[in-house]
Amino acid sequence: MRISVIGAGYVGLITGVCLAKLGNEVTLIEIDAQKVKALNDRVPPIHEEGLAELMGQVDMDVSSDHQKSRHSEVIFICAGTPSNEDGTVFLGHITAISDQISKVLRSRGDYCVVVVKSTVPPDTTEGIVVPILEKSGKKCGKDFGVCMSPEFLREGKAIYDFMNPARLIVGECDKRSGDTFLRLYESFDAPILRTTLRTAEMIKLASNAFLATKISFMNEIGNICKRLHIDVYDVAEGMGLDDRIGKKFLNAGIGFGGSCLPKDIRMLKTTAREVGYQPRFLDEVTNLNDQQAIRLVRLAKKHINLEGATIGLLGLAFKPGTDDVRDSRAIAVVKALLGEQALVKAYDPLAVENFRKMFPNLDYVSKEEVLNCEAILILTEWEEFNELDYRGKIVIDGRRVARARDARIYEGICW
Ligand code: UGA
Repeated sequence: MRISVIGAGYVGLITGVCLAKLGNEVTLIEIDAQKVKALNDRVPPIHEEGLAELMGQVDMDVSSDHQKSRHSEVIFICAGTPSNEDGTVFLGHITAISDQISKVLRSRGDYCVVVVKSTVPPDTTEGIVVPILEKSGKKCGKDFGVCMSPEFLREGKAIYDFMNPARLIVGECDKRSGDTFLRLYESFDAPILRTTLRTAEMIKLASNAFLATKISFMNEIGNICKRLHIDVYDVAEGMGLDDRIGKKFLNAGIGFGGSCLPKDIRMLKTTAREVGYQPRFLDEVTNLNDQQAIRLVRLAKKHINLEGATIGLLGLAFKPGTDDVRDSRAIAVVKALLGEQALVKAYDPLAVENFRKMFPNLDYVSKEEVLNCEAILILTEWEEFNELDYRGKIVIDGRRVARARDARIYEGICW
């Protein structure tokens, strides 16, 4: 099929490259001219397993010209939806792209489907995107179709997740929209759920909020277990044998970060408040997460006077396998350590450059140098941290790295 993907951020780029790999004729439209050039030179702007190879294999047009979508049968909106300072969501990119599509629709005589892939508050597609598209003079459900199909891509595994989806959620304004969109996925063997537009939007938010809840829940159980000298990982193993609970996302530790879970739970809470509901439970999921970072620093204080001490950090990325530091727990830990007047040295195999943009004055060092600090805090479970020699050291572990237990003083955050 002929496809346009608008917005070459994380979701847009993966969607474009994967759909091109599946044999579609893909145009990726992006306003950032530097990004367009890099993508045309096939330089990946993000670190993602398999992306560089795939970009080298596929034939994909990258451009800033929205008119290039005028022959597309499906047009994806993949704009970023960051949080505003007050916790509300910034929809400016979504509206700007919708405006551009509307201009293209005005001059089109044929049918196409516009698909929102960005994570958005319920009613955004129906209440904001559709009215802008209809400024073209064309009618949704007659002249063009609209779908909302959230993406469930884990960073680091995004290409695998795209090609092997656990489910396809298709919010549709009418059957023809969904039928047209689903032609793209004919070769996929995944359960398909067709819903209303706003249900699809809510499925995405609720899914990420639930994952965040699982983590905060296990962190709370872990905090209790630690006081009772019970290993929360054994507890998780026992719980996970019940397939109603499941084995995944039960790893207690320093908490969740990244560009999705924290932002999406914020979006859901704001949405709830806007409709007059106080989401106390979701508030507590976030509070618990914020507390874990502080808890780790408090544990370090049990063993060392932080004022003037050199504290080494292993891991800055929000999880292993990525250079992404957005909402990484390391941010809260560094702030707390600096507040205690500690001297912070940090190492991460991939994320230093991104972290440096937020904390330019931190001392970024090798992992060997981190090991020589007065105390070591583990914040990301990179494989390589399991190969270090921790003997004789003081280690406060936020991520359950097995070898770290060789330390002279070892303290796990929830174990
Ligand atoms: C998350 C979801 O897992 C994807 O399904 C979703 O599509 C994506 O957000 C999105 O909305 O696009 P991602 O942000 O890549 O994916 O990261 P996760 O693998 O979910 O990890 C999030 C955080 O939770 C990390 O900081 C990780 O260390 C932490 N975590 C995860 C735990 O603390 N314990 C666990 O058991 C699992």
